[in-house]
Amino acid sequence: MSKSKSRLFGLTGKAKEQLIQQMLNKRSIDSEQDVTQFRKTGRFKNLKSDVSDEFTRFDKFPAYQQLLVHKLAADSLDIASPFFRTHTQIANNTTVIDGCEYINFASYNYLGLSGHADVSAAAKEAIDQYGTSVSASRLVAGERPIQRELEQALAELHGVEDCIVFVSGHATNVTSIGYLFGSKDLILHDALIHNSVIQGIQLSGAQRLSFPHNDWQALDDLLSKSRKQFERVLIVIEGLYSMDGDIPELERFIEIKRRHKAFLMVDEAHSQGVIGKNGLGIGEHFGVDGQDVDIWMGTLSKTLASCGGYIAGERTLVEHLKFAAPGFLYSVGISPPLAAAALAAIKVMKAEPERVRQLQKQGQLFLRLAQEQGVNTGKSAGYSVIPVLTGSSIKAAKLANALLTHGGHVQPIIYPAVEEGMARLRFFICSAHTEEQIRFTVNVLTEELAKLGLKA
Ligand SMILES: Cc1ncc(COP(=O)(O)O)c(C=O)c1O
Repeated sequence: MSKSKSRLFGLTGKAKEQLIQQMLNKRSIDSEQDVTQFRKTGRFKNLKSDVSDEFTRFDKFPAYQQLLVHKLAADSLDIASPFFRTHTQIANNTTVIDGCEYINFASYNYLGLSGHADVSAAAKEAIDQYGTSVSASRLVAGERPIQRELEQALAELHGVEDCIVFVSGHATNVTSIGYLFGSKDLILHDALIHNSVIQGIQLSGAQRLSFPHNDWQALDDLLSKSRKQFERVLIVIEGLYSMDGDIPELERFIEIKRRHKAFLMVDEAHSQGVIGKNGLGIGEHFGVDGQDVDIWMGTLSKTLASCGGYIAGERTLVEHLKFAAPGFLYSVGISPPLAAAALAAIKVMKAEPERVRQLQKQGQLFLRLAQEQGVNTGKSAGYSVIPVLTGSSIKAAKLANALLTHGGHVQPIIYPAVEEGMARLRFFICSAHTEEQIRFTVNVLTEELAKLGLKA
């Protein structure tokens, strides 16, 4: 204990009060001196007097200016914005925009469970029973049985002890990583890891190192060089990469994390419901024990037809996050209809594994047909995510708009979401897509790529 602290705690109650009062007075004296100085000189001690427009106007933020450049470029090339289109019905294999129906490749409704009768009914029943909100953090407002049932069902899916549900998938990564790790720790992540993981690492203050995509050997080398300089080490990968649609060799990562005494976190946002015989994700795909991964992360917003995120793992991890992770402690509990929808979606997924197989079949079909036509699908493994690389943001936006005129809705992914040369269209496949829809789409895609000079 420091000398000043021990002295403070050795004081009588009265002396402590006096000391605290002195400290408070000192602060007010400081600020009075500041005010006097400001009156005399027109300046606060450390502040610059000339504040440029740059720092006082939202339209001068550099990132906003960059957005304007994109908008101007699109306007001058007569490319309509493909973003924020208004959909007026359930988005599944088809969607309705401005009263017209399109074949839809822009939603994560992988197993068609958003809009499924059982899922919607469960959400409605939960509203009738509990209302639309729990109106405070679970620590304060208490539990609803549906929340714990969902957490237990998720823990069971991953074969681990327990699970904690947050109100957003993005916030799950930010708050869990941000809270659990600190400045003496190292976090290594795949170069293509999701933004939410990067944000979490920045919040944590840990050292951050990225390793080339799926390159477990490079990770091994980095750990051999640096492991001993840090206290805790976390490795973060995704079960299925959301931009490229490929998967990591999970067993290699497990072996490496064991050898280097590190924690392994797997973000299952896009693999749940998509890979593995029953859609249980990358763990099922490689036949690993759920407990071989330290932190399973997932979202409720994709296959599970809801909104929120979760961490599943050993009981102590979950308990720790429940009592201390700011994004759980200081945020409202998941709303009853959202918890009920996700729970019902898990039940349908388990009862109807044919949905998973149909999704996998249609993904493979799309990939095969596209590759036969010489379309550049990057590294996609042909599950739910199939990119079509266009090399430039302008070509990606033009291609998306051209497909829309043929009745196909797909989003372009452009700079800065990816490097300019890696701009692409990203097709999300779902179990409800028909063979006819896929064949039609690949045909028009091939024609339009040729018009842009992009067909092999
Ligand atoms: C890999 C990955 N992790 C986390 C998230 C965040 O999930 P949510 O959209 O449910 O907040 C996403 C979102 O797409 C994602 O792709």
